[in-house]
Amino acid sequence: MSAAPRGAGNGKITVPDIVSRKSLRSSSDLATSTNKITCLTAYDYPTARLLDDAGVDILLAGDSVGMVVLGYDSTLPVTVDEMLHHVKAVRRGTKRALVVADMPYGSYHVSIEDSIRTALRFVQEGGAEAVKVEGGERRIELIARLADAEIPVMGHVGLTPQSVNALGGFKVQGRSEEAAQQVLRDARAVESAGAFSVVLESLPREVAARITGELTIPTIGIGAGPDCDGQVLVLHDMLGLTDGHTPKFARRYANLAEIIGRAVGEFCDDVRSGRFPSDDESYHLSAEARSRFLARQRV
Ligand code: KIV
Repeated sequence: MSAAPRGAGNGKITVPDIVSRKSLRSSSDLATSTNKITCLTAYDYPTARLLDDAGVDILLAGDSVGMVVLGYDSTLPVTVDEMLHHVKAVRRGTKRALVVADMPYGSYHVSIEDSIRTALRFVQEGGAEAVKVEGGERRIELIARLADAEIPVMGHVGLTPQSVNALGGFKVQGRSEEAAQQVLRDARAVESAGAFSVVLESLPREVAARITGELTIPTIGIGAGPDCDGQVLVLHDMLGLTDGHTPKFARRYANLAEIIGRAVGEFCDDVRSGRFPSDDESYHLSAEARSRFLARQRV
C-alpha cells in the first residue's frame, strides 16, 4: 500500500482516537481538559477547511443544514441527496478532523436494508467516516447492523429534532424522574448496540452527567451541560449567522451577520458613489496596445 493510512501518526483523527478520549478522561492521572472532544457542524468546503485548520476534532455534516442553510423550518424536509451534496463538500475541505454524516429523516425509518444502503452511500460516495442516527432503544437493531457493516455510528438521544412532531416542539427532554430514566435507557441502548459515541441534546446537566459517568463511549453534549466528554454546536449559531431565537446554550462567539451586513453595505455605497472599482483594481492595456487601440477607434 503506498498511501499513508489514516490514523498512522499523521494527525488524522479516527474513530478509535475519539473513543480513546473517554478512557483518557476517566483515568485520573490523564484526565485533562485537553482530552475533551470538540465538534462543530459544517456544511460546505470553505467552512470545513477553516474548522479543520482551527483544530476541531469532529466535523458533523448535520441535517441542521436544512434550517440554517436551506431555510426550512425543521430538519424533516432534508433529503439524502441534499445531505450527500453537503457531505461531499465537507469531505473535500477536511484533512484532519473526523467527518460524520447525519442520516436525514426518512432515510433509516423504513427498513434496515435500505438504511444500510443509504449509510454506505454516505461512506462510499460522500467520504464520511461515520454516520449519526437519532433515537435510543428503538435503534438498537439498526445501530448493530450498521456496526456489523463496518460503519461507525454516532448515536443521538434526548431532544432528537427529527421527532419534533412527536415531541410537540424543540423542548428540553428528561426533565422528570421518569423521563430522565428513559433517556438513560436510550443512551445505554445506543452504547450496547455498538455506537462509538453519542450526542446528548437538550438535557438537564444532572442527567447528562449521570449518562457520561455510566457510559464507556464518549458523550458529546449540546445543551446538556459541561460534564459531557465533548461539546458540539451548530456553526451558524456560534458565529451569529442565524436569525430569530437561538437556545440559551448556543453561545455566540462572533457576530458574522453584523460583519457581513457592514461589508455589503460598504460595497453598495462604493459602487453607487463610483469609488469601486478604482483604477488600481482595473486591468490595463500596455502603452503600445493602448495607442493602437485608441487610434483605430478614431478611424
Ligand atoms: O444536525 C445537527 O446539527 C445535529 C447537532 C445538533 C448535534 O444533529
